[in-house]
Amino acid sequence: MRVTVVGSGYVGLATAVSLAYLGNRVVGVDVDGDKVAALNRGKPPFFEPHLEEMLTLVRPNLSFTTRYEEAIPQAQVVFIAVGTPSSPDGSPDLTQVKQAAEGIGRYLGEGFTVVVNKSTVPVGSGNYVEALVRRAFREAHGGEPDGRLAVASNPEFLREGQALHDSLYPDRVVVGAEDRRAIEVLRELYEPILEQSFAPPPFLPRPERMGAVPFLTTDLASAELIKYGANAFLALKISFINELARLADRVGADIREVARGIGLDHRIGPRFLQAGLGWGGSCFPKDTAALLAMGREYGLSLPITEAAREVNFGQRNLLVDKLLAELRTLKGKTVTLLGLAFKPHTDDLRESPALALADLLLKLGAFVRAHDPVALPRARQEVVLPLEYAETPEEAFKGADAVVLATDWPEYRTWPWERLRGLLRTPLVVDGRNFLDGKALAAIGYRYVGVGIPALGILSKVEV
Ligand code: UGA
Repeated sequence: MRVTVVGSGYVGLATAVSLAYLGNRVVGVDVDGDKVAALNRGKPPFFEPHLEEMLTLVRPNLSFTTRYEEAIPQAQVVFIAVGTPSSPDGSPDLTQVKQAAEGIGRYLGEGFTVVVNKSTVPVGSGNYVEALVRRAFREAHGGEPDGRLAVASNPEFLREGQALHDSLYPDRVVVGAEDRRAIEVLRELYEPILEQSFAPPPFLPRPERMGAVPFLTTDLASAELIKYGANAFLALKISFINELARLADRVGADIREVARGIGLDHRIGPRFLQAGLGWGGSCFPKDTAALLAMGREYGLSLPITEAAREVNFGQRNLLVDKLLAELRTLKGKTVTLLGLAFKPHTDDLRESPALALADLLLKLGAFVRAHDPVALPRARQEVVLPLEYAETPEEAFKGADAVVLATDWPEYRTWPWERLRGLLRTPLVVDGRNFLDGKALAAIGYRYVGVGIPALGILSKVEV
């Protein structure tokens, strides 16, 4: 099929390369000329595992442009995958969605086109997009695009850091539309994924026991709400374990064991029960805020979602309290953060809990030093906080009073902790993701403090 994808962020690029990989002819549209030029040279605008390899692999089927007139007229399916950042009141800013819909309407071709919303937008946006496309079409051509246009919602559930894996091997594909033809076109487009009939790329093998993928068709509003429902539920699952972790700290339980015991119940499931510094990123904070804003619009409070946010943002203070309890004061102390990205396998710093923690520490008079395996170049450009950056384990540890693991990058497990200990002023590790081997660290002389787990080791002498 001929497919156009407007927007080249995580969702847009993952969609474009996956559909190109499946043999479709795909054009990506983005307003950013530099980004488009780089993508046409095979260079991704951010770090995402396998994206560069995939861009090379699908090159014959994929091109990028800034011009709607080159990308829209021939397309059978046009995905809108642009950003919907939070407005100050928490509702998503739909400026880019509006621009995309207008660009599409202006250049709509002669054939039947399905316009698919993949951006996360409030319920009702499908109708809004359709109205905008129609209006732009009328203004450009003076008539209705009758019979040539259908709008669908196709929410995206991919995770950053695993975007391509999740695009090719999703848990489900959800399509909301009022027009049967739109559903049929999308079913055909997604068939190789639904049937898992494609040969996997060598670097992204199909998961074992992967079967056919459920295709769920709904009305527009339900599809839009599914997206918010899924993200808010995952966010509150994490907040729930964090709430329980606070209690575990008091009663002397180990939240990792508690999470395992809870998660083995199939009705609950083991994932997204990792206690720690809490959730961040471009999705959970924004989407829970948007859900609350949507509720407000209808005079409805959503107390569970509200509480999930409150618990989440409180986790950063909890970590500060733990540091204060160990070091007594943070003034003039150097705290090293291991990890700046909002989660491992990405260089995305948006709403990163690590940065929120850094901000609190700086306000308390600490010097904050940060290491990240991939996000440092981006941090140097984007972060306004006065952080020191450490490129190596040695730079990270030298003279620091505490090390806080903020992002669970696998390499931190294999750092030479025994050798590095001697570089610290005080051998204190606060594990904000309960990720390191606390027993092993305590055995080599560290004081190890986690979230909702018993602390280990003794901090012999703290110079205030
Ligand atoms: C999330 C959803 O998982 C995707 O399904 C969805 O498509 C995406 O948002 C989106 O709306 O675009 P993402 O933000 O990439 O994906 O990251 P997650 O893997 O969900 O992690 C979110 C945050 O929760 C991270 O800060 C992570 O460290 C934290 N987390 C995750 C925990 O604190 N504990 C856990 O057990 C799991």
